[in-house]
Amino acid sequence: MGEVVIGDDDGIARAVALLAAGELVCFPTETVYGVGGNAADPLAVSRIFQAKGRPPSHPLIVHIADARDLAAWAGDIPPSALLLAELFWPGPLTMVLRRGPAVPLEVTGGQDTVAVRVPAHPLALRLLREFGGAVAAPSANRFGRVSPTRAEHVADELGDAVALILDGGPASVGLESTIVDLSEGEARLLRPGGIPRQALIEALGGEVADAGARAPRSPGRLASHYAPASPVEVLGPSEFTVRLAGAEEVSVMARRERRHGFVGEWVRLPDDPDGYARHLYASLRTLDRPGRPIIVEAPPRDARWEAVNDRLDRAASTQREGREGG
Ligand code: TXA
Ligand code: MG
Repeated sequence: MGEVVIGDDDGIARAVALLAAGELVCFPTETVYGVGGNAADPLAVSRIFQAKGRPPSHPLIVHIADARDLAAWAGDIPPSALLLAELFWPGPLTMVLRRGPAVPLEVTGGQDTVAVRVPAHPLALRLLREFGGAVAAPSANRFGRVSPTRAEHVADELGDAVALILDGGPASVGLESTIVDLSEGEARLLRPGGIPRQALIEALGGEVADAGARAPRSPGRLASHYAPASPVEVLGPSEFTVRLAGAEEVSVMARRERRHGFVGEWVRLPDDPDGYARHLYASLRTLDRPGRPIIVEAPPRDARWEAVNDRLDRAASTQREGREGG
């Protein structure tokens, strides 16, 4: 079970056959790896929830090969959705739209909206094209854990729960797609991600507000989603310095070089938001040791860092509120 294979002709052919048979296949996207099943097959979709240990009320993203397939999955598609598809697909943008009649309720968690995206990873696109249908896929981690950005992370998370893992190398974006809700007219940001909010604002020519309390259910928005087992603390410069000098053994994630004299694990991340995002989840995995806190030097609180700060805040909120999402 869970054999890791490269995405050559043979690997793709095996993955396509498994999807057609209602089995699960893990595959790379440019954001994170997904665990996929035939979106038109309710039984395959229910297997995804089992594999992840995710409550069935939490909806999945439908992955399609081409924006032209959108009409098969969504209804009442607004012009803004077609514009965003034109500009950002294939790419790290998920749109929430009115559910089309053919979408199984298992995919949408019973809601009347559906989340759709065209991923940019060449292997994902080839898989979708050769499968000829849509693939429902959440991130390929167990519920509540950090999303996988490499095939070996997927094997650690779901190796015994899936038939096949396609290896497409390290994910280039490194955190999940941006989710924008267009189902109620005005665009609402449900989750910051690979496409910056500012790019959506420029494309749509108006503000893109956060989703209010009436927003559709989106477990990515639960405070304690994306958490490693280690407690995570995101600290500003002076707190960071004080914490390093303390007696407790800690690991560090920072944008600067290892402090002279610090003996624990220290991961240095790039100083730009894209580079930081690319390495964030893999670094949290590397430093994840039960009981040993991960001290994160807080990145700047500006718009370019919105998605990174969102994931760091969620990882850090575990200590305050207890584990929840997935
Ligand atoms: O980058 C990504 O989006 C990755 C790759 C594999 O495509 N997928 C991903 O899926 O992050 P997942 O299930 O881990 O997160 C998708 C989020 C969930 O929080 C889910 O609740 C939300 O999308 N979602 C799905 N359908 C929705 C809907 N109809 N309305 C609101 N939120 C929805
Ligand atoms: Mg996820």
